[in-house]
Amino acid sequence: MNLIPVGVLGTGKYVPERILTNQELETMVETNDEWIVSRTGIRERRIVAEGQVTSDLCYEASMIALSNAGITADQLDLIIVATVTPDMTFPSTACVLQEKLGAMKAAAFDLSAACSGFVYGLANASNFIATGTYKYALVIGADSLSKITDYTDRNTCILFGDGAGAVVIGEVPEHRGFKSFELGADGTGGPLLKIEGGGSRNPASQATIDQRLHYIYMAGAEVFKFAVRIMGNAADEALRKAGWEKTDIDLLVPHQANMRIIQSSLNRLELSVDKCMINLDKYGNMSAASIPVALAEAAEQGRVKEGDRLVLVGFGGGLTWGATAMVW
Ligand SMILES: CC(C)(COP(=O)(O)OP(=O)(O)OC[C@H]1O[C@@H](n2cnc3c(N)ncnc32)[C@H](O)[C@@H]1OP(=O)(O)O)[C@@H](O)C(=O)NCCC(=O)NCCS
Repeated sequence: MNLIPVGVLGTGKYVPERILTNQELETMVETNDEWIVSRTGIRERRIVAEGQVTSDLCYEASMIALSNAGITADQLDLIIVATVTPDMTFPSTACVLQEKLGAMKAAAFDLSAACSGFVYGLANASNFIATGTYKYALVIGADSLSKITDYTDRNTCILFGDGAGAVVIGEVPEHRGFKSFELGADGTGGPLLKIEGGGSRNPASQATIDQRLHYIYMAGAEVFKFAVRIMGNAADEALRKAGWEKTDIDLLVPHQANMRIIQSSLNRLELSVDKCMINLDKYGNMSAASIPVALAEAAEQGRVKEGDRLVLVGFGGGLTWGATAMVW
């Protein structure tokens, strides 16, 4: 079977207007700007407005991605929304978005792979296009983490923010597009990063609320160790499958969780910091949105030109990881 080459046709991003600074967090929990910046690299993050929901963030980012791709919503065949903060349990946020966009011929579903969700979504959608099943797909990473963050827990509340990044993918010339995907999961690490309340195991009740089970729980140091190991491994594997060397990378677009994790990936890949897209100082960790927002900003800022070799790599709850090697 001859596969169709698939790549990014347009990108878009949206972050809410409201900024939550480290100084403001100092008034909410026992922390300080110096600690947050030195341990994470984060200075501020964006927070959704009252009444603003994940599908709203998706909509704004998608409209820009569609415009940049030069197609209209009714041409879309598929919508995948990677998120851990859907508007509601069901219908999926992808279906809510389909209606908002008027993309009425598109199949639509949500994908749950936490912070790795966008790369998982790209891999899924690109297979539909490569096989000729679909022509255009919209892949979005979007999260409103402020809705599931415990603002009394200083271990987590300093890290997270809200946003959405979108790409339209479709056929590209042979020399461009996705050259490899590396996806993985390790369910034994599931307890390290989770929300226990609200599912079939612990349906919402007064007890789950009292126990704060509807907020993110994170074993930070354990997740940190996993992240440092897996970011390098996943990127290496994507490079190997693409037949590339480390020196081939023009731009690394990593998940924006912690500057120290990003720096360890740069060391492992022997890359200088100018070959890396970094925006976590402005946005914190936006889960599935981090990579596509960074990619959209790289495009906006002219940091990628046709023919550049990019590696996107992320990790997250599950535990999960995902990387892709792609030519812009
Ligand atoms: C959360 C994280 C920043 C903590 O950094 P760290 O250097 O590992 O810090 P530690 O957890 O060892 O904590 C060191 C001390 O700082 C304290 N501390 C934790 N959060 C703090 C805060 N916001 N402000 C001030 N002190 C804080 C801890 O209580 C601890 O104090 P103790 O030694 O008296 O117990 C880091 O572990 C991390 O980034 N982990 C990965 C998180 C991640 O990527 N999650 C998302 C996955 S998609």
